[in-house]
Amino acid sequence: MNIARLARLGYAALTRDPHPPPCVLGAEDALSSLRSALPAGFLLGTATASHQIEGGLDNDWTDWERGAHPGGEPHIKDRAVSGAACDSWSRIDEDIGLMRRLGANAYRFSVEWSRLEPTEGAWNEDAADRYLAWANALRAAGIEPMVTIHHFTLPRWVATQGGWMNDRTIELLAAFARRVAKKLGSAVDLWCTINEPSVVAALSYVKGIFPPGLEDPRIAAHVMARMLKAHARMTEAIREVDTTDADGDGRATRIGIAHHVRIFQPATRSPLDRLVAGLTDRFFNEAVASAPFTGRIELAIPGVVEVDEAVPGLLGSFDYMGINYYTRDHVKADLRDPALSKQFVPADRPVNDLGWEIYPEGLYQVLKRYGALGLPVYVTENGIPDKSGDVRPSFLRSHFEALVRAAREGVDVRGYFHWSLLDNFEWAEGYEPRFGLFRVDFDSPDKRRSPTPAVETFQEIARGLGLEPEAG
Ligand code: GAL
Repeated sequence: MNIARLARLGYAALTRDPHPPPCVLGAEDALSSLRSALPAGFLLGTATASHQIEGGLDNDWTDWERGAHPGGEPHIKDRAVSGAACDSWSRIDEDIGLMRRLGANAYRFSVEWSRLEPTEGAWNEDAADRYLAWANALRAAGIEPMVTIHHFTLPRWVATQGGWMNDRTIELLAAFARRVAKKLGSAVDLWCTINEPSVVAALSYVKGIFPPGLEDPRIAAHVMARMLKAHARMTEAIREVDTTDADGDGRATRIGIAHHVRIFQPATRSPLDRLVAGLTDRFFNEAVASAPFTGRIELAIPGVVEVDEAVPGLLGSFDYMGINYYTRDHVKADLRDPALSKQFVPADRPVNDLGWEIYPEGLYQVLKRYGALGLPVYVTENGIPDKSGDVRPSFLRSHFEALVRAAREGVDVRGYFHWSLLDNFEWAEGYEPRFGLFRVDFDSPDKRRSPTPAVETFQEIARGLGLEPEAG
């Protein structure tokens, strides 16, 4: 990276706090008049992903689940394997029943590439029929489907060709997206091409805790660039083949990415902490969010890697901005760390079961920040690991209040998807974290679902929107 560019990035990071100031929450009962605050047709739902709930899969993650890090530590906590998961592959009717009980009018789920295309060029029509039946059943129940095409997992045959380290994956995924959109387009308008490119880059290629377990920021930057290129190609393909307006709003498709956004708070006012927090923000948050407006991929870790490239098809490739928001990180510079910092939560802050800070004001901040870009926004994920089930009601309430506050101040927020409908396989953390509005008894043969206290909170929000939860 040249000195002038570094100075420019550094200057921007030092002079501009990218996050608007937080709001004061709880000052009014923000849930009382939801219909006047939120647009008609607001989507209230839950989100899941195939690998975490379906069960019976065979892909790069199932391989990873059986392995260990070079030091001997298993890749997955407690040596858990995804295995039968929630068995949602066979229990979608039951799950739709749970959504009706919540009063939800939307559901975000992903299709599993390894199931649909088990070997290169093959196509499992039975599995495709089943996904189409799901989308139709959801629609018949008054639940708008949002379909994610890529949510972390790769078929083994893609992974063995190098996965996201191989340019070929861009075309393979675009071809897959074309087939999926052709098959499901009659029932689906809302598409999410890729879940969390920044998380894949960070956890698979910097921290080494997701497959393929590398710790190389240079590779991570190129992976992120490839994912954005894939998104552009997928968008073109979906727009071309899905010409059916399933929800009757006059448009056949609305396409975006589910972008994981974090608040990177400098741990102190020192220029170095502020600089590193700013650079981390640019890499993790800004590169993806600015891509559809600039048509470029701009990624930089000073002295390590720089990607600055115009990508055909990227400009205008988001119809909405999907935001996955969970927490805030406090950033202490450490230039020896591959991530250039150590991230932590101060001892006086509330945390969830995984030690992440509970910071609802952050959702308001990110909605204000990304809502200002001019695209409609969906909160495509937000949730909490809470084994007790007792913290989730106030978590859900306070985060929804933050959303309402942002909407009242003019942010065009069109939906909220809670992560998650069910407890599920939480990647490297295995089955211990409990994210579900419904608890799952993984030891029972029927993977029994039972409500947590936050179901009532969700129903309250649904009623506020004029939706009607069904009796359980
Ligand atoms: C997101 C991811 C989900 C889920 C969630 C909870 O980053 O998209 O699959 O695991 O985090 O940690």
